[in-house]
Amino acid sequence: MKYYFAPMEGITLYPLRNVHREVFGAGVDKYYTPFLTAAQTFHFKNREKKDVLPEKQSAFMEDLATCIEPQIMAGNAENFLWAAREMKKLGYHGVNLNLGCPAPTVVNRHKGSGLLQEPEYLDEMLAEIFEAVSENTIVGGKPFNKKRDEEDLQASDGSLVYPEISLKTRLGFSNPSEATELMKVYAKYPIKELTIHARVREDYYAGQARIKDFKQAVEVYRECGGKAEICYNGNIESTTLPELDRISSIMIGRGLLSNPALVRELKGGEKLQPEELKTYLRKLYDAYSEYIPEDRNVIFKMLEHWAFLHVHFKDCDKQLKAIRKSRGKGEYNAAVNDIFAKCEFI
Ligand SMILES: Cc1cc2nc3c(=O)[nH]c(=O)nc-3n(C[C@H](O)[C@H](O)[C@H](O)COP(=O)(O)O)c2cc1C
Repeated sequence: MKYYFAPMEGITLYPLRNVHREVFGAGVDKYYTPFLTAAQTFHFKNREKKDVLPEKQSAFMEDLATCIEPQIMAGNAENFLWAAREMKKLGYHGVNLNLGCPAPTVVNRHKGSGLLQEPEYLDEMLAEIFEAVSENTIVGGKPFNKKRDEEDLQASDGSLVYPEISLKTRLGFSNPSEATELMKVYAKYPIKELTIHARVREDYYAGQARIKDFKQAVEVYRECGGKAEICYNGNIESTTLPELDRISSIMIGRGLLSNPALVRELKGGEKLQPEELKTYLRKLYDAYSEYIPEDRNVIFKMLEHWAFLHVHFKDCDKQLKAIRKSRGKGEYNAAVNDIFAKCEFI
């Protein structure tokens, strides 16, 4: 079984990816970036571009190409193909198309899980994407860049301009019965890997994962001839896994934020130890300090982690409050030392 760190907007940015890999990365096969928007302007925002620059992936020097997978948010084939080519130029072997984001602003723009409402359109979009990929033709991009791409293509003796393509989907928009139609569409294309978050859009991230519907969807996908490797996603929070067969990987999001050693534990390794958690938090603070200038903002970033990590400390309300109220690095460190010193580690 392979294990992946899920994409999480604003969270699984390069500081976290590098620090997690350094301290707890053994056994994590792949880290996904939060989605990068493939904009109509054929430009990434600066902070999105920065997140995928090879020189920022300090813990992935030798295996960046396969151990990081950038995720792309796009509402049409042209934009996606342009973004996929850009990622290939940076050295990535695979990219992932976001078909799951439930945010209304995304859905209303017919992106993310919004595309699940329109299976016919999605089918056309994937057809266009996989046609360009199989023919290795340049589609999308500014005229200037397009010319440069074509020159690149000639210069590189026709080597592939696109990375491999994987999808991350939900079971449907409102109802898991929609998965049947979606799986029929996905089965038509040479997708590298199909990650299924076992929820529908209207579930957002709440409630139980829909395991039965997930299994049914995988069955339909295989019956329709779908060949991609299947990755399960949804509520893996401990070493007790749901009964799943026919999958080759598991993607974990919040479970790895609560317990950064979860993959090690799933592989039969040692439970999370307080000392290594302390090291992880210290390195994370330092990595965020380089990423964002002000102490207060660094602390806000750390609080996103504490919202998940406090479960390891028994009766920690008072100490947690002190962490939340800290205004500078000194106060923050003192409050963190206090929680480790005074609260039982569970
Ligand atoms: C704060 C947050 C941000 C997320 N951002 C993304 C994203 O950028 N791309 C994506 O495909 N999924 C995103 N997700 C969904 C996760 O990748 C994952 O599918 C979801 O959390 C369920 O898995 P889990 O139960 O293991 O956390 C996000 C989830 C959360 C909670």
